[in-house]
Amino acid sequence: MLDVSDLHASYGQIRALRGVTISAEEGKLTCILGPNGAGKTTLMFTIAGVLRPRQGSVRLGGDELAGRPPSAIVGRGVSLVPENRLVFPDMSVHENLVAGAYLRLSDRAAVDGDIEAMMTRFPRLKERASQLAGTLSGGEQQMLAVARALMARPRILLMDEPSLGLAPLIVEEIFEVIGELRAEGRTILLVEQNAHMALKHADKFYLLEQGQVTFEGTPGELEQDEVIRRAYLGTAKAG
Ligand SMILES: Nc1ncnc2c1ncn2[C@@H]1O[C@H](COP(=O)(O)OP(=O)(O)OP(=O)(O)O)[C@@H](O)[C@H]1O
Ligand SMILES: [Mg+2]
Repeated sequence: MLDVSDLHASYGQIRALRGVTISAEEGKLTCILGPNGAGKTTLMFTIAGVLRPRQGSVRLGGDELAGRPPSAIVGRGVSLVPENRLVFPDMSVHENLVAGAYLRLSDRAAVDGDIEAMMTRFPRLKERASQLAGTLSGGEQQMLAVARALMARPRILLMDEPSLGLAPLIVEEIFEVIGELRAEGRTILLVEQNAHMALKHADKFYLLEQGQVTFEGTPGELEQDEVIRRAYLGTAKAG
């Protein structure tokens, strides 16, 4: 479904991605693991068009996305749940969900139907439909960020560290949702620092270190301890 090939991205002199090649198969959960600063968020931003690649291609179902503006990429079916959630704090839960569907507001009946479905899926959002998103708990904001991304009816969902900064019980809940989405046959590309949880759910994973893929495989192919060590520490520090 998604094919990223030889992707390079920089911030000025800093080369954050140095020829990244990954793919995410339809209906599967693909994980990107790697230590802080490895380039995981940069990869998500570059796929979503927030950042322009210096080189390389991003194809979705054969369609080239690289170089297109973010809204065109959303329109082609890529929806990002950003790191640190980034819900619209001064808008209500309901308004955040409407915003997630901004490219298809002309079909208001369908949008309202999807909002209803999100409220059913996430009952805590339903109870808080008119509450300002900025006043939600971290876990609730994460659920809202996922729901908002789903409102675009994406073909692929990009999730950047959904468990970041959340209590263990909430992390379990987030992964339950991820498990459900996967069971529904959705295509997901998940960035996680929580290698333990990610490996429990992933169909396939990549290790990203210093802007390069250093390992790809299925959970179990590499000793779990080794994956976790490298995901947290990187190879350099692990010796
Ligand atoms: N806006 C920016 N300006 C300059 N350098 C940046 C910027 N954003 C990221 N970088 C650099 O790019 C590299 C990759 O950063 P990135 O945020 O993609 O890593 P990450 O794997 O998502 O890390 P984390 O696990 O901490 O979220 C780092 O060296 C970082 O310092
Ligand atoms: Mg990041």
